[in-house]
Amino acid sequence: MKATANAGSNIAFVKYWGVRKDRRHRLVPLNPSLSMTLDVARTTTTVEFLAGLRQDSCTINDRPAPPDALERVRRVLDRIRALAHRKDFARIASANHFPTSAGIASSASGFAALALAASRAAGLGEKQHNLVSVAVLGSGSACRSLYGGYVLWSPPDAGGRRPSRLRQVACEDHWQLVDLVVILTRERKAVSSEQGHLLATSSPLLKGRLASLNRLLAKVKRAILHRDLPTLGKCLEADALCMHAVMMTSRPPLLYWEPATLAVLKTVQKLRVKRGLPCYFTIDAGPNIHVITTPDRATGVGRALKKAEGVREILRCPTGRGAFFVEEPLF
Ligand code: DP6
Repeated sequence: MKATANAGSNIAFVKYWGVRKDRRHRLVPLNPSLSMTLDVARTTTTVEFLAGLRQDSCTINDRPAPPDALERVRRVLDRIRALAHRKDFARIASANHFPTSAGIASSASGFAALALAASRAAGLGEKQHNLVSVAVLGSGSACRSLYGGYVLWSPPDAGGRRPSRLRQVACEDHWQLVDLVVILTRERKAVSSEQGHLLATSSPLLKGRLASLNRLLAKVKRAILHRDLPTLGKCLEADALCMHAVMMTSRPPLLYWEPATLAVLKTVQKLRVKRGLPCYFTIDAGPNIHVITTPDRATGVGRALKKAEGVREILRCPTGRGAFFVEEPLF
């Protein structure tokens, strides 16, 4: 059977950074994370299991997937095959609908769409919360894109008794925000998140971040439920800076920022203080900046950011819905 699914990227307000090995030597996150699912930055993926294939094949935007992406796709499919008790290989086609060639990660949207499409194509049940363990094999943050709106991903407990959980804190209609993705560079990052997660425990600052996260998470959840942007904004800026402090103090250090990154952070602060605009920054594992604002102020904030040093492009992504099935297959 052939199945097609669509999923959006997401931006974390409380970041997932760092992994540990569980009793079965699987990598599990060190901390819970909370994100907003995005529209516009979305991926459509078609999967078909076929008896005659000798291996899995995958195209992204009509080109063969690069080896590292194919390796992650195979991890997801191996898990699906194990759950569905089948051995056949699959053909996969994936299309990113990002209005830019790169600069914003497509792994979250890509692996959420793949998990949903592959589970239906393999004849499995496709309840979103059951797909968490499948999607994370491609990209940890991908599982949060299974749901729309504001999504909390809690890792398994240290004793292995409670599995990893996904929960929608609020749906996209509860509060519409905008993520202005400020693109400074389209180059691939030198150190992938996968490698970076393994370095987190070498930072002397990691313990401090982990110790403060439960309070921060509670505050972020409350701010979302009360649609309180100043509180949410303060929290998400603080956590982004804290995560980057952990990255910068890892051994070897991870410096994802470019000089223009700092220039944009200062512009955001200035827009807030001098012009009273409701805008707050967050940064993932790269130099590009995400500026969270309200739909009525997004155009003005975007216009001002465009003038900042080094800004190439700005992508406007509203709060989006979760992953869903699509009728038209890509092949
Ligand atoms: C900094 O392992 O999900 O974005 O597979 O590259 O998407 P990719 O990364 P992943 O780690 C995400 C790290 C982060 C923070 C976050 O999204 O929570």
